[in-house]
Amino acid sequence: MMLNSNTWNRIRYSLYRPVYDIIDGYFRQKRKASIESLNLKAGDKVLILGAGTGLDLPLLPNDVEITAIDITPAMVKACRQKGEQLGLNITTEVMDGSNLSFESNSFDFVILHLILAVIPDPIGCITETERVLKPGGVCTIMDKFVAPGKKAGVVRKFVNIFTEMIATSIDRDVDELIAHTALEKISHQKLSSIFWLVQAKKPD
Ligand SMILES: C[S@@+](CC[C@H](N)C(=O)[O-])C[C@H]1O[C@@H](n2cnc3c(N)ncnc32)[C@H](O)[C@@H]1O
Repeated sequence: MMLNSNTWNRIRYSLYRPVYDIIDGYFRQKRKASIESLNLKAGDKVLILGAGTGLDLPLLPNDVEITAIDITPAMVKACRQKGEQLGLNITTEVMDGSNLSFESNSFDFVILHLILAVIPDPIGCITETERVLKPGGVCTIMDKFVAPGKKAGVVRKFVNIFTEMIATSIDRDVDELIAHTALEKISHQKLSSIFWLVQAKKPD
């Protein structure tokens, strides 16, 4: 089995699910910055790709329409339960983030937190994000990337072989991914050593 595949992700995230929420403290402010920048309004349609256990949900207002998908059934179940406990308007589905079954131009916002560096097909994921966003819609990306204009060095590429198997890629370039789409980058902010917050808009 390839160690950067949907099958492997399903297996490992099923195993991580019971302890996954221990990362909440470290990422809370980063998520908050990402979600607040969207200025969500009542009735907005928000898609969370690779939603995990739903750690974004407590930061979302309860008057938006949330759709959350993930490839791992155990994660989707945890996410649905969290959404219900919070009284949110949420629909959850098991789905591949690089092959969405939604109509084109369906969502006002797409949240991509810790998914573009994990998903085996990040180009598929960003092009699907572009497709399902409404014209003028915005995606917010929070993840580990190389700095803008830089390439991953030899050491980073070597370490990546191991991090990719158990956690995440650390050698991806968000600008290169966005360049596969017509999305227009509207902000690119460093959050910490390897974490970046990037927003991109689908042209009107
Ligand atoms: C690092 S977790 C991030 C979860 C959540 N977005 C967060 O911020 O906590 C990565 C998630 O991506 C999911 N995933 C991996 N490959 C996927 C794919 N092809 N489609 C959808 N979700 C995927 C995993 O099941 C896991 O829940």
